[in-house]
Amino acid sequence: ALAPAAFAATPPKRPAPGAAPLGYASAFPADFVFGVAAASAQLEGAAFEDGKGESVWDRFSRIPGKVHNGDTPDVACDHYHRFDEDFALMASLGIKTYRLSIAWPRIYPNGDGEVNPKGLDFYRRLFASMKKHGIEPWVTMFHWDLPQALEDRGGWTSRVTVDAFGRYADTIVKAFAQDVKHWITLNEILCFTLLGYGTGTKAPGRKESPKVVNQTYHHALLCHGHGVRAVRQFGGKGAIVGLTDNCAVAVPVTETPANIAAAKAWFEDRNAQVLGAIHAGKYTANFLARVGADAPDVQPGDFGLISLPTDFLGLNIYSATYVRAGRNGAAYESLPHPTNYPRADSVWLRLVPQCIYWGTRLAAECYGHKAVYITENGCGYDDEPVVNGEVLDLHRRDYLRGHLREAHRAIGDGVPLKGYFLWSFIDNYEWEDGYQRRFGIVHCDYQTQVRTPKLSAHYYSDVIRERRIL
Ligand code: NOJ
Repeated sequence: ALAPAAFAATPPKRPAPGAAPLGYASAFPADFVFGVAAASAQLEGAAFEDGKGESVWDRFSRIPGKVHNGDTPDVACDHYHRFDEDFALMASLGIKTYRLSIAWPRIYPNGDGEVNPKGLDFYRRLFASMKKHGIEPWVTMFHWDLPQALEDRGGWTSRVTVDAFGRYADTIVKAFAQDVKHWITLNEILCFTLLGYGTGTKAPGRKESPKVVNQTYHHALLCHGHGVRAVRQFGGKGAIVGLTDNCAVAVPVTETPANIAAAKAWFEDRNAQVLGAIHAGKYTANFLARVGADAPDVQPGDFGLISLPTDFLGLNIYSATYVRAGRNGAAYESLPHPTNYPRADSVWLRLVPQCIYWGTRLAAECYGHKAVYITENGCGYDDEPVVNGEVLDLHRRDYLRGHLREAHRAIGDGVPLKGYFLWSFIDNYEWEDGYQRRFGIVHCDYQTQVRTPKLSAHYYSDVIRERRIL
């Protein structure tokens, strides 16, 4: 048994904030970015104000049965009118980096054509407020709120959307080149293509053939390329750009060389359509063999745009699949989670903290990225009412701590992980799960719009201040 004296030993002296050497008491490097993330349609509200056009989520959420409780993004957190107070709260928690998205239908109500000056003005005011509060923006060009007018012209199945996105990207990068130095092209291609046009569980809710779905992926890749091109052309000095992908993550069941090799093989197979294609500058032979006649149509020059070099890779990682070496010569075997494996209230969110380590490590190893950011990580739970002015979300604090530990381990093992954005700053519109599912570290009372930082917000605030795992 441990002698009680072991616990009574004098704790080591704490390093000064920001100066903590790596390896000491789980300290993060001095330039590691700690941030929070959110997206336009999920928190802005003001869905029909100041000339904003209808988005596919404004339309989809009104179809009975599509969204839990029939919730719409109409009001959300009313951030459109409350951003200044929200940034004051962020600053008071010590949060200095915020990933947000621009709503395409605010800038181009019809997706294309005339620019809406009030849309540009809104984001100008928003960036000015962030600056005033000492918060650095990381801006996603597209986080799922496609203008409905473009959907009416084919949406992601059509190259009309690609051309329109190119003009939209040019417009916002030119307009905000002074305010924004960190750009993210698209958020989670898989979700708005496969789930929007394949399973139909997300807007616009279509159920198309695999061939059409593969074409939507291809158009999304082209838009990513346009986003990179726009930043290179108009972003100004010091502007950087990358994609945010929700790659499928494999965690080796035990970290033996054979299981690690299996996890890597699984990872490359599962991520061939987006990360693999961008990296290779073409669709790989494996991918083409898998999709056969359903391969997307590719035009000359497409991959020149798609594989333009980027400055970083953003990864949204929440969970993972366990993988081990395959039997009888198979490269791998993936293991389904048993029904009683722990999860958050979001049914897809199995609690596998090592997802952070393996997701960032495999992405860097397989695709040679020199800078990787976790652009989202967090957990969705229901019903955390405010009691006596507090929300004791110890489960979220635990989730956060466990995942930050794995981020720290990755850095220690040489993975070029440069930052971490927590999803989300405030409870918000969780797409088809509506308002019931809460991801925020700040509680939002949707009746009164009162914000209450949860215990997890105070925990994260302490971590940011001390730059180490607490
Ligand atoms: C991924 C998406 O980017 C974000 O919009 C969503 O709310 C979170 N994950 C949680 O599901």
